[in-house]
Amino acid sequence: MPLTDAHGRKHDYLRISVTDRCNLRCIYCMGEEGIEQLSHSDILSYEDIIKVVEAGAELGISKIRITGGEPLIRKGIVDFIKKISSVHGINDLSMTTNGTLLTHYAADLKKAGLDRVNISLDTLRPEQYQKITRCGKLKQALEGIESALKYGLMPVKINTVLMKGINDLEVTDFLKLTLEKPLHVRFIEYMPIGDHDRGYPDHYLPLSFVEKKAKQAGMALTPIPLPGGAGPAESYAIPNGKGTVGLIHPISKHFCDTCNRLRLTAEGNLKACLYWQDEKPVRPAINDKKKLQALIKNVLNGKPVEHQMAANGVCGMVKPGTMRGMSKTGG
Ligand code: 5AD
Ligand code: SF4
Repeated sequence: MPLTDAHGRKHDYLRISVTDRCNLRCIYCMGEEGIEQLSHSDILSYEDIIKVVEAGAELGISKIRITGGEPLIRKGIVDFIKKISSVHGINDLSMTTNGTLLTHYAADLKKAGLDRVNISLDTLRPEQYQKITRCGKLKQALEGIESALKYGLMPVKINTVLMKGINDLEVTDFLKLTLEKPLHVRFIEYMPIGDHDRGYPDHYLPLSFVEKKAKQAGMALTPIPLPGGAGPAESYAIPNGKGTVGLIHPISKHFCDTCNRLRLTAEGNLKACLYWQDEKPVRPAINDKKKLQALIKNVLNGKPVEHQMAANGVCGMVKPGTMRGMSKTGG
């Protein structure tokens, strides 16, 4: 019996934030001052996360994504990956990272059983990278991407949040990147999420903009079947491209009807939807597998049919969503 929510959606995917901390400060993710960080004792231990994964795997969870914050800054991440990859029933293990530490970790992560990575990269220009991340060095992220390719953390996907006035002039450059390298560049619409809008009204652009730019550049986007574990992305090939292009529209064409994911926050709360405030702590059930499984089903049962980001973006806060930014929820 697959895990199914009250709206008939099958769930086989758990995204786990292992830390809310990050070595960058991306403008769409957190304020300049960073976030109020959880103390170490508030963060769910690796041991407890494994218990949740084992309970979930028995219910039909087979895909796991490790996120943050930046997961590679949590101590012991390689051993943790090794443990998760050996949980019976888990057959797709991926990580979302900003890539800046990947040169150090890619080989070990692959050996430990990590299948693939998604790397956040919103610009190909060094000064702009520093502005968007407020402190990052583009070179490190690019070297991280090369390491991911070198050690076979494939398919290597690039997450690019499209932002008007910030990286919209670079759409063609990102498209060209997929001609040169076997990278899967996925443009993501800017989401108004977290405790302030982070410039959403000024910077949101629907992804029809990417389609327009591709057309202008004579790069025909041809729909293709999704590359491994593509989730909500619509995938496209460009003639003679080594990689592909993906479009993820959480706002202009949301994909809630096919949502298959649950989330575990860094402090150990289960969340059924990225957007809404609802979440339940796993700690009270952590030493009893049956209780954990009942909790997972209970959280799924309460999963709302869809988010309301677009409504909030257009009309102001119609319905309050979560106060958590992405670094606290896990992207
Ligand atoms: N809108 C869209 N995408 C976001 N991400 C983080 N915050 C936002 C936002 N407000 C993406 C980042 C990263 C992933 C974890 O989530 O690009 O790749
Ligand atoms: Fe860090 Fe990712 Fe947030 Fe950027 S988007 S600050 S890399 S957690």
